[in-house]
Amino acid sequence: MGAGGRRFESCLPDKVRRSLSEGGHLFSAEITHIMANILAFAGSTRTGSYNQLLLNAAIKLIKASGHSVTEISLRDYDIPLYSGDLEASSGLPESVIKLKDLSKSHSGLLIASPEYNGFFPPLIKNLIDWLSRPAAGEAPLASLKGKVACLLSASPGTLGGVRSLGSLRLLLENLLVLVNPEQMGLSGAHEAFAADGALKNPKQAEMLQNTLTSYVTLLSKICD
Ligand SMILES: Cc1cc2nc3c(=O)[nH]c(=O)nc-3n(C[C@H](O)[C@H](O)[C@H](O)COP(=O)(O)O)c2cc1C
Repeated sequence: MGAGGRRFESCLPDKVRRSLSEGGHLFSAEITHIMANILAFAGSTRTGSYNQLLLNAAIKLIKASGHSVTEISLRDYDIPLYSGDLEASSGLPESVIKLKDLSKSHSGLLIASPEYNGFFPPLIKNLIDWLSRPAAGEAPLASLKGKVACLLSASPGTLGGVRSLGSLRLLLENLLVLVNPEQMGLSGAHEAFAADGALKNPKQAEMLQNTLTSYVTLLSKICD
């Protein structure tokens, strides 16, 4: 267990701490007995996207531990640029309604975001702006309020795109999403992945696991 995991251990419920002292692993489904399901997407549709690769590695770890993840690609959703005129004339686009329904049926949002000039990219901003718009008769923020998000980023640069996550965190919190305190920026992303998609550097692999461990533990506490 890395430093991130140890920090988190101090606020674990008694039953989880007991189980750990009996040799259980913090990342196992028996211990976190999660009831949550997670919707996962990357904020890049680029072929070979490093954020998609990081998301894939994260999904593999979460699934291996018995938790439920629905993976989507924003490539598969034709989301127009938000326009008040479009909304007034045609309502919410079909793609947005589908994504809102998906978000409503999941407790968690796992997002891997590129960094564009210190911010998260317009693909994510546009999606979240649309998600924030209520359909007729729908409660405000019905597809976002109370979700629990975990943020990852990947970049060839030395900071791993982590500067994008501050602004993304702020946006999500404005919309009443709870964002996991731990996050991860993967630096040197262009050379970080082995052929099987795993992270080559054990320290980066541990960082990812610790971030996800804290996330599923938070989800399990909230959804329990
Ligand atoms: C418009 C633009 C701005 C960028 N700004 C940053 C930046 O501020 N920091 C950074 O680390 N990388 C930056 N990059 C490089 C991206 O991290 C890199 O293109 C990365 O591969 C994008 O993520 P993806 O591989 O998931 O598509 C920028 C790229 C673009 C296209």
